Amino acid sequence: MGWYSVARSHELAVGEVQAVKAFDRELVLYRTRSGKPALHDAFCPHLGAHLGHEGRVIGETIRCPFHGWQFNAEDGKCSSIPYCDEIPERARIRTWHVDEKNGEVYVWFHPENTGPQWALPDLPELGDPNWTSPRYTEHLVPAHVQDICENSCDPVHFRFVHSQAEIPDSSVTIDPDGRTMHLHSEMANADYPSHLHAITYSPGFALVRTTYGPNAEMIMYNSPQAIDQHQTFMRWTLLVRREIEDAVGDDVMKGIINGLSDDYPIWANKVHKRRPVFCKGDETLVAFRKWVRQFYVTSEDKREIA
Ligand code: FES
Ligand SMILES: [Fe+2]
Repeated sequence: MGWYSVARSHELAVGEVQAVKAFDRELVLYRTRSGKPALHDAFCPHLGAHLGHEGRVIGETIRCPFHGWQFNAEDGKCSSIPYCDEIPERARIRTWHVDEKNGEVYVWFHPENTGPQWALPDLPELGDPNWTSPRYTEHLVPAHVQDICENSCDPVHFRFVHSQAEIPDSSVTIDPDGRTMHLHSEMANADYPSHLHAITYSPGFALVRTTYGPNAEMIMYNSPQAIDQHQTFMRWTLLVRREIEDAVGDDVMKGIINGLSDDYPIWANKVHKRRPVFCKGDETLVAFRKWVRQFYVTSEDKREIA
């Protein structure tokens, strides 16, 4: 369970309808005429047409392309059947809770579709004149979302995968709420020495703040879309302080893209180890595996992934 991105806000225009795949489900995402994003299960309860393919936004509803039944964005109830006055009780599609913030549309995913248990943080840097406007990069990777999240608690791989001279000194802490995890790493031997602070709010939202010195800061965050057990669509956003934009902005963006291509062959060919053999130097990974269990709801989920 948790928040997961399903689109960038600016890529979903008013009246636009998109087919979305997340959590091994087919979904339909659209923006109503009043500007609200809505997300439902994709298949029409009538004869099963996919609302994400040729479905139409009509006011605050979506209209099925097959026989024109309309469903409310708010609760998924059928509001109109163009050739019949009586609407069957069961004419309803499942509606997922969405929230739009920090430039993205997020769905609260819970296998039983219960309401959100926490909110995603607001990022004051977005829109702050001291910071640049966001830069974006997206990547489809053949790995489970948990394995990608785990990467941010894995200082050892920096040396072997990302060619850092040494394994950075790192520590992991978890907030008293038990949910927000922090990794602090001293990147003393990098080209530009820095302090790295990765905050993982849930497997669907991780933010890395890198500090090179006073007013020399950048943040990047990843809002992955968990497509299924073997595929994740990463949405990275990067902002830097204006003071260092010219010096590092483009280089850092390039660095992220190169960094991901370093990780890619590992992700593409690895298996998920449910019970890894850990050594004493793996404290941060052990902490991660303990922490991540809370995001699975049923014991079946846990057995499958964590
Ligand atoms: S299948 Fe949707 S209205 Fe018939
Ligand atoms: Fe990595």
